[in-house]
Amino acid sequence: MQKSAVLCGLGAYLPETVVTNDDLAEIMDTTDEWITSRTGIRERRVVGPGISTGDLAVRAGARALKSAGGEPVDLVILATTTPDHPCPATAPFVAHRLGLVDTPAWDLSAVCSGFLYGLTAASSFIAAGAARRVLLIGADAFSTILAPADRGTRPIFGDGAGAVVLRPGDPGEPGALGPSVLGSDGSLRELITVQAGGSREPLDPAEPDQEGRYFTMQGRSVFRHAVARMTAVTEEVRERAGWRPEDVDCLVAHQANRRILQAVAERLGLPMERCALHLDRVGNTAAASIPLAMADAVGRGGLLPGHRVLLTAYGGGATWGAAALTWPDITPQPDGRERASEG
Ligand code: COA
Repeated sequence: MQKSAVLCGLGAYLPETVVTNDDLAEIMDTTDEWITSRTGIRERRVVGPGISTGDLAVRAGARALKSAGGEPVDLVILATTTPDHPCPATAPFVAHRLGLVDTPAWDLSAVCSGFLYGLTAASSFIAAGAARRVLLIGADAFSTILAPADRGTRPIFGDGAGAVVLRPGDPGEPGALGPSVLGSDGSLRELITVQAGGSREPLDPAEPDQEGRYFTMQGRSVFRHAVARMTAVTEEVRERAGWRPEDVDCLVAHQANRRILQAVAERLGLPMERCALHLDRVGNTAAASIPLAMADAVGRGGLLPGHRVLLTAYGGGATWGAAALTWPDITPQPDGRERASEG
């Protein structure tokens, strides 16, 4: 019988520093009322000086490995848009710090869809017999690429990391990943971008304030495309899984904006009570958003063993995706009732 990837470990990590909407209102022209009503976000976590995406990834990765029983893995995938360095990839050093010797490890770049792209890649390796156990980490420190006083982006994003471990198993057992669908449309690359710092437009050392060195986003267009794509791809996956809308116990959508989640849920015929909602406390954590939201939902009793779960995301590229799974009997580290933070 064809092997399926089965979710058997989950870890979450958030940096300690909390930035509230009122904190932001002190340094830019915005208000708590504006941010809360337009996005649903009340606060976010940010890395302190000297803390990198790799540091977040190591913490979340260690917790996922512990949650999975501590066995080593034979593949590490790190989904991120904010690697520690342009070169080399961050994943090999993360694997090394986790004590994983000679283990293949690479970074995956699909912005906010990175975790779902990674899930499909990990699951394909397992189904093909090319890997037994995979550690998939989604980690981002977007605060390091935002313009310091940009009110269009700084209120939206937060830093964090989430990770899962996948093992081979039976397609019918709890935790088994079901169908997944991915997509991209590169004609929309300018909606979400850091223009400078790559080979097309290298950083100019003579221009410390070079236009294009920071992250930019065309919020309104992203909003529209995100709702349309996440709705369509989630519906496609639900149908492929053979589920009716009323069969779905929980939608874990990329935590971009509460209004986006509401629009997607409404179009899918799902009440908001069946949607994971974590962004009020962490903002948009990019590649970390889905595993962080899963860990939070487990802690709040929103994800129980046997639940039928749909995951979906939309991100820069443009990229998008969705996947179905039946929730396993696992205990995330830390469990979502504690504050996932230092330690
Ligand atoms: N505080 C106060 N006012 C703000 C503001 C802020 N933080 N950011 C923008 N504004 C102002 C704008 O300048 C504009 O003013 P004007 O009407 O005088 O020109 C007004 O608010 C409306 O701006 P707009 O950008 O059209 O607001 P919006 O309703 O589209 O909300 C986002 C902006 C970013 C919250 C929204 O577009 C969004 O969430 N988009 C999706 C972003 C996302 O989720 N990206 C990640 C996907 S992976």
